[in-house]
Amino acid sequence: MNRPIGVFDSGVGGLTVLQAIARRLPGESLVYFGDTAHLPYGNKSREAVTRFSLEVARFLRRRDIKLLVVACNTASALALPRLKRELGIPVIGVIEPGARAAARATRTRRVGIIATEATVSSNAYQSALRRLLPGVKAVGKACPLFVPLVEEGWWSHPVTTAVAREYLAEVSKARVDTLILGCTHYPLLKPALASVVGPGVRLIDSAEETAREVAELLERLNLRSPRRKAAHRFFASDGPKRFLSLAKRLLGVTADRVTIWRFE
Ligand code: DGL
Repeated sequence: MNRPIGVFDSGVGGLTVLQAIARRLPGESLVYFGDTAHLPYGNKSREAVTRFSLEVARFLRRRDIKLLVVACNTASALALPRLKRELGIPVIGVIEPGARAAARATRTRRVGIIATEATVSSNAYQSALRRLLPGVKAVGKACPLFVPLVEEGWWSHPVTTAVAREYLAEVSKARVDTLILGCTHYPLLKPALASVVGPGVRLIDSAEETAREVAELLERLNLRSPRRKAAHRFFASDGPKRFLSLAKRLLGVTADRVTIWRFE
């Protein structure tokens, strides 16, 4: 079926999820929406995040998507049940896939979660892990400075490593053997984070796991596109500069492929 898949994030970080889906499913067309006008979601209330998420999801549904991927961890943590109820098409978030991968990876049942303030305090990852792995010790730590550092392009800058050392002291002290990168931006910090936590800690990237889940769901529902190559479209709700520089660095996306769509 040739209809596109919608991928949505509060900004540009969800392109890590889009990239993982595009690699795994090269025949699927993707429509991406980065809600840059409302970024960051990570320090906002459930009500605000749900309202923004619904607006974006309805916009994407009008583009005739066959499936919605909520690439934003904060939106997945706070708004997923509402989106599932409202949309009338399958909706996949990033929390369950990430938690499942962590549950598979851990040997000691001690798992760290780093994410935005809203995601950590929602307990979404912690609850998913407890459901999957009884007796798990789940340690959450909000890392609000990581998003601006990634957007600044400081992926392996000494300042980023110093900030990571500060944030990760708590999870390291809890002797976790697995760390969930519970935010769209964090996969881009993988080398810096790995150098801080050391080789004994597995880093779980929700993007890869979500792409696997998307592939499985399309197969199961018989929704796979028969094409071999696809075209993607990009929308952002405000100021394309940051969006464009990261989209270009990650995916080679150029300005002419991004449309600015301002909500009323
Ligand atoms: N996309 C958000 C997330 O994955 C991070 C950026 C934000 O706070 O909006 O949680």
